[in-house]
Amino acid sequence: MISLISKLRKRIKKIMLRQNQQTIGYNAEKYENLEGKSLVESYNALRHEAHRIEKAVYNDLLISKKPSFDNKVLKVKNIQKIIRRKDYNASTNPVYIWSEKIINAYPNLQQNFIDVNKGCPPQVNLKKGQQFVTDLENRRSCRILKGPLSNSLIEEIINLSYEALKWAPNSGNRQAVRMKPIIEEKEKRLLIGIKEKHCYTAPLLFFVGVDSRLYGALSDFEECMYLDASAAITQIILYLNSVGLGSSWNHFGLDLIKTRNENIKIYKKFQNKLDIPDYIIPIAIIAIGMPEYIPPKPARMPNEYFSI
Ligand SMILES: Cc1cc2nc3c(=O)[nH]c(=O)nc-3n(C[C@H](O)[C@H](O)[C@H](O)COP(=O)(O)O)c2cc1C
Repeated sequence: MISLISKLRKRIKKIMLRQNQQTIGYNAEKYENLEGKSLVESYNALRHEAHRIEKAVYNDLLISKKPSFDNKVLKVKNIQKIIRRKDYNASTNPVYIWSEKIINAYPNLQQNFIDVNKGCPPQVNLKKGQQFVTDLENRRSCRILKGPLSNSLIEEIINLSYEALKWAPNSGNRQAVRMKPIIEEKEKRLLIGIKEKHCYTAPLLFFVGVDSRLYGALSDFEECMYLDASAAITQIILYLNSVGLGSSWNHFGLDLIKTRNENIKIYKKFQNKLDIPDYIIPIAIIAIGMPEYIPPKPARMPNEYFSI
């Protein structure tokens, strides 16, 4: 009897261990063996490893775990070598230059990298913060959007939206969120039947997705994929609001797409026509235009309601 219980215990332990490995196991290989990987994945590994070396200064780990960071430096140098082979413009790429600065400054990162590149903290300015929060309160999801938007305006909006997207906080400096502007009527119409009217009639649409190839070191299903996209989309709609344009964030995730066979067909066609690779996980459609009017504020609950 005792041996049976002990066997059972061992079995349960084994199953739990396997489950843990599946859910929280760290897939170190994600950042190894880059030879066969794409340039996008190689740059991701470069950002990830260089970012960890820099972060070690802030976390006081550089001295206590020096041998491990010495190894990381070698790894970064190797990734740089692979990138130089794949990308002839590597030496002018901002991420490559940033990684070089970190490696050249190592191990005296505080002195040679942080102190020479750091900025001065600003004065606390509560008035500015009050204005910022008022702007947040006054932003609305606008669904009655009109044009025309001039070509130069569209160009500026697209460029600045890429800036808003890329400067969003993102997990491990992955920079995995991707955006595709949609201007052509025939491309917008591909969304008929899957999304609401404003998602195919607005003067300008942004399809937002995430490059799933850059995730998977923690588990096969990394929540940060969705969090990174949300942070980027939030910054885009705040930018659009700041210039007086109307926009609305519209869900366009796999859960919605997979609810009906018809949706799957529509998405496949959209994907084909717009050249969206399978590794891009769809997240949202942002509808953009001049707001016909600002809709009434959807009331929010009192602050106590949001407190845990
Ligand atoms: C993740 C997410 C998905 C959304 N999806 C849609 C959508 O599919 N269609 C839509 O009309 N609005 C969508 N919205 C907008 C919300 O309905 C809107 O933000 C909410 O009602 C609050 O209104 P406000 O943005 O004007 O404050 C979405 C917002 C978020 C954050």
